[in-house]
Amino acid sequence: RQRELEEVETRALVINRCMMAFSFLSYPVPISPRIHTRPPSTITTSSMPFTPDSQLKLLFPSDLIPNNVREALPSDLHVRPLASDDYNRGHLEVLKVLSVVTDPGLEAYKQHFESMLPANTSYRSSRGQTYYVISIVSRETDKVVATGTVFIERKFLRGLGSVGHIEDIAVSKDMQGKKLGLRVIQTLVAISEAVGCYKTILNCSDENIPFYEKCGFKKKENEMAKYASESSTPGRL
Ligand code: ACO
Repeated sequence: RQRELEEVETRALVINRCMMAFSFLSYPVPISPRIHTRPPSTITTSSMPFTPDSQLKLLFPSDLIPNNVREALPSDLHVRPLASDDYNRGHLEVLKVLSVVTDPGLEAYKQHFESMLPANTSYRSSRGQTYYVISIVSRETDKVVATGTVFIERKFLRGLGSVGHIEDIAVSKDMQGKKLGLRVIQTLVAISEAVGCYKTILNCSDENIPFYEKCGFKKKENEMAKYASESSTPGRL
């Protein structure tokens, strides 16, 4: 009986070691120079190490982010332009607090990101691009916790003036009420003004009016909307 038990234990030990060896071999070899404390996963986990801006493809030059906002943020948070792989950091999850978000997959997300870059790269240095999307990222988890967009409308009036339109402001549920919405708006207004817009405008629900008033906005005029029918927008996911 004793020998039988020992045999069973030995077999279990061998099987266990084989499984460990197999699982080790089946992990992909990391291609990034980052040090992983455990094998990398294709799914982003909450312990993903913080990625510095220098290792990211950013939507626009990060010197457009105002220093006063960087300094006002808690030290565990970082504000920067949207990165091409913020899909993996939960960018779309954060947007779900605002509206319906359909998952396009990483590749379509990256293509969409590329389509927002100016075709003419000299536009980047002259600050002439159209889309400025920002992310506030947790240094602890490398997750996006807040985001917002300002896009630049170029007009023929007002001496070929430009207007900044603020869109898609979202702070993840567990981070609301910590002034992150305010920091997102301060950043987008600063960008809008830095690229030469004579005004920055937005639409919001009645319940968000007090928030935008706290951010320095005043109610002006009315919003009108006409939604396209489903059949006339076949390209949408
Ligand atoms: N009503 C009254 N006051 C508010 C509200 C509100 N709904 N929301 C924020 N405030 C106040 C805060 O109390 C704070 O005031 P204080 O300076 O006196 O303390 C000030 O506004 C700044 O608030 P934040 O802490 O920066 O707000 P938060 O980080 O929670 O972000 C936001 C606000 C963006 C509305 C967030 O709650 C959110 O993501 N909501 C869901 C999505 C949404 O509605 N987005 C806006 C859509 S409009 C657009 O995209 C243009």
